[in-house]
Amino acid sequence: MKYVVCNLKNKMVLSDFQKYHEGLKEIETKNTKLIVCFSAPYLMAANSHNYDLGSQDITSLIEETVTGEITGYQLANLDVRYVLVGHSERRIWKKEINIDFINKITEAQNNNLKVIYCIGESLKERENNQTKEVLEKQILEVLNNINLKNLIIAYEPVWAIGTGNTPTKEEIKETVTFINKVIKDNYDLKFPLLYGGSINLDNINEFATITELDGFLIGGASLDYQNVQKIIDVISQN
Ligand code: PGA
Repeated sequence: MKYVVCNLKNKMVLSDFQKYHEGLKEIETKNTKLIVCFSAPYLMAANSHNYDLGSQDITSLIEETVTGEITGYQLANLDVRYVLVGHSERRIWKKEINIDFINKITEAQNNNLKVIYCIGESLKERENNQTKEVLEKQILEVLNNINLKNLIIAYEPVWAIGTGNTPTKEEIKETVTFINKVIKDNYDLKFPLLYGGSINLDNINEFATITELDGFLIGGASLDYQNVQKIIDVISQN
């Protein structure tokens, strides 16, 4: 079974959500697991009969009373099953760091939510041949400090997100093989591994054949529910 995770970011207003939500009712998930990460305001209105609900964020401030934060208990109470943690946009814009991710993952796990932990190198790190070193650090510094359950890893090169640029199929294969090895060597475990960054209708045919991958995390292209169906159709045939 392959994962198809839609990250809708902060893109929708209510009328977009309503249309999308209606469209999702017709989606045939086939043999994939569809997870849709709406913005927080729409989580309550989402009704997930053929997909699982995901949140784009969760509080890192465990057991504190904090204005504007969303707890794992609140998310679980809305039938949210998955949470994105470590997304590069939050690393960059919100200056989130490892201790935030450790706390967020702990908060999620305390409430039986599964975590999609995002890792990835920047363009500068890639150009300096630091990709492996950066990914290993992002893995070990967080996974050494959490409970290793209910975890999915998403490899998302920062330079590929929202840019239309992607690594080649061979590069993705090599990098995910490396990530799997780091996890196997250090924890003797294997987690589902996703790729994210500019997945679209033009490249999904090629990337869906990467056997090392367990699915995809899709931003921009997932804003159209008909694209989501087309992507699922391709993935389910591989
Ligand atoms: P993108 O976003 O598909 O628009 O590149 C992916 C992501 O940010 O998770």
